[in-house]
Amino acid sequence: MAWKAIGIFDSGVGGLTVLKEVVKALPQEDTIYLGDTARVPYGTKSPETVVRYSRQIAEYLFSRDIKLLVVACNTASAVALATLQRELPIPVVGVIEPGARRAAAVTRSGKVGVIGTAATVGSSAYTKAIKRINPEIQVVTRACPLFVPLAEEGWVENEVARLTASIYLTDLKAQGVDTLVLGCTHYPILKEVIAEVMGDGVTLVDSAQETARTVAEILGENALLRPAEEVGNHHYFVTDVPAGFIRVGNRFLGGRLGDVYQVNLEDEGKEGGSGEEEEP
Ligand code: DGL
Repeated sequence: MAWKAIGIFDSGVGGLTVLKEVVKALPQEDTIYLGDTARVPYGTKSPETVVRYSRQIAEYLFSRDIKLLVVACNTASAVALATLQRELPIPVVGVIEPGARRAAAVTRSGKVGVIGTAATVGSSAYTKAIKRINPEIQVVTRACPLFVPLAEEGWVENEVARLTASIYLTDLKAQGVDTLVLGCTHYPILKEVIAEVMGDGVTLVDSAQETARTVAEILGENALLRPAEEVGNHHYFVTDVPAGFIRVGNRFLGGRLGDVYQVNLEDEGKEGGSGEEEEP
């Protein structure tokens, strides 16, 4: 029997933190990752634009015969998940619902902080998801856009990272949250400085681990899990030249990426368009 792969996408390299957890939870599964590096960041763009990009990527990955799609980008999950779930005939998993579930489960004080991109915070997707689970929980949000370039640059434990985290988070801390959702794919890379500023009493929720658990559950329920003795293969596609993705991606994944291919999504589906993949 030919087993299909799990498709995963993000605006760029950040979704590799989700891929890493999916591979850890399900080492037997093949994965196809797409990073939209030509059009990153999504966090500063309008919902309409992010929906359009997400649909193009979903269509591309679906054409590669995937069995489940993970929207490993908080911004795309916040604004495009419902559209993709409606349009694709396979399960589509976002990162917001799993992160919200975990936050609602771990908070003791009933006061949860959520940090993310401007688009994610603007959509109130986390607040709505947490309140759907427990309307009593108070949710305090804060956009932390500078965390994305800091993580990409690898400035995760220096004075600039510390000062930025302190400016962004001091107010959240003062409001007495006991749980903080890292609502952006890049933020787990800055976990150490975020934890330093928030202090011991605050639990950090990383949506990636919870999302991987959800993926395993859905595949299990649908009898789509590959036998545990298999070993998965991992393929990577990007929409810009691969060099930068490989450099930053190795750090995000905490290991070495395999081959990374460039794909032109603008040509996908157009008559005469090649959609060709070029080797790096
Ligand atoms: N992947 C995005 C997210 O999780 C962060 C980077 C971007 O703005 O595209 O929201």
